[in-house]
Amino acid sequence: MYVGTTVNQFIIEEQRRYAAGARGDFSLLISDIVIACKAISNAVRRGGLADVLGHAGTENVQGEAQKKLDVLSNEVFLRCNQWGGRLAAMASEEMVDVYRLPAQYPRGKYLLLFDPLDGSTNVDVNGVIGTIFSVLRCPEGVTEPHVEDFMQPGTQQIAAGMAIYGPQTILVLTMGHGVNGFTLDDTIGEFVLTHPDMHMPAEAVEFAINSANARFWAPPVKRYIDECLAGKDGPRGRDFNMRWMGAMVGDVYRLLCRGGVFMYPWDSKNAERGGKLRLMYEANPISFLIEQAGGAATTGTQRILDIKPSGLHQRVPVILGSKNEVERIIAYHREG
Ligand code: AHG
Ligand code: MN
Ligand code: MN
Ligand code: MN
Repeated sequence: MYVGTTVNQFIIEEQRRYAAGARGDFSLLISDIVIACKAISNAVRRGGLADVLGHAGTENVQGEAQKKLDVLSNEVFLRCNQWGGRLAAMASEEMVDVYRLPAQYPRGKYLLLFDPLDGSTNVDVNGVIGTIFSVLRCPEGVTEPHVEDFMQPGTQQIAAGMAIYGPQTILVLTMGHGVNGFTLDDTIGEFVLTHPDMHMPAEAVEFAINSANARFWAPPVKRYIDECLAGKDGPRGRDFNMRWMGAMVGDVYRLLCRGGVFMYPWDSKNAERGGKLRLMYEANPISFLIEQAGGAATTGTQRILDIKPSGLHQRVPVILGSKNEVERIIAYHREG
């Protein structure tokens, strides 16, 4: 009988290749994250049968109304990852402050940041949703990390990934040596390698942006989209297609499969907070995946992974995807 490569086997083999002498802490950390994603996937599948749809009746630090699944996924992530001794602390889109581990658990050398449920507005309409996570190293000698200890640029991430709860549950992972995709095999309860070494094309024929915000965009973004919309008869000389799923995980998975550009750019509506998407839980981990798959990620004027964070819940403009397209948009920003 054929048995595919499970995510655990994959991680351990990658560790042997690139981190000889590693004690296995890191692979155990990822396997706890994987268990959390499996549990969330299961709750998502059950939906109304398990009474997990609808609003929780609370608001998060971002001022967003929380869905029951936002709260539940956050709980699942904390519970699965706090006991293992690999982490020093966690931070989440759904929590105001750094999450300190309960006193009875040993402290480890990693920090975990996550968006427990991405695409909350899709929850009640059976649309694609997901989970995004990022792993940083805890500064040497720190056992009870504070916000400052998390304020590391995205280039310092040692792993990042996302789970997509769509028609299949898929886990996409990078540990800095390319991007690999795993599909949850319900019959054995394991993620199995199905999309090895994912690479995205440098050119794109698709873009993803919430065009309801068009009147708030800056001129360089407006110019890029106008040129795409002009199609064959415009300066690009070819037709483009548009897709917007309402969940970054879904749009980004499409980019990884067939290229394209995803944008939640600066807009005058979000001017004060800098953008909509969160640097630490969304922009950084997704940018790491995109760069590792051969793409690029920018705010328009700065590589996202180079941003020195100023707060846990900091927001940034996000423009990412196929390299040539992203470089074109950067050039438009330079030209003003
Ligand atoms: P979250 O559900 O974690 O709050 O994130 C939603 C994000 C992102 O996933 C998505 O691309 C974008 O917000 C959708 O924004 P609009 O509702 O403005 O389209
Ligand atoms: Mn949210
Ligand atoms: Mn999100
Ligand atoms: Mn979220």
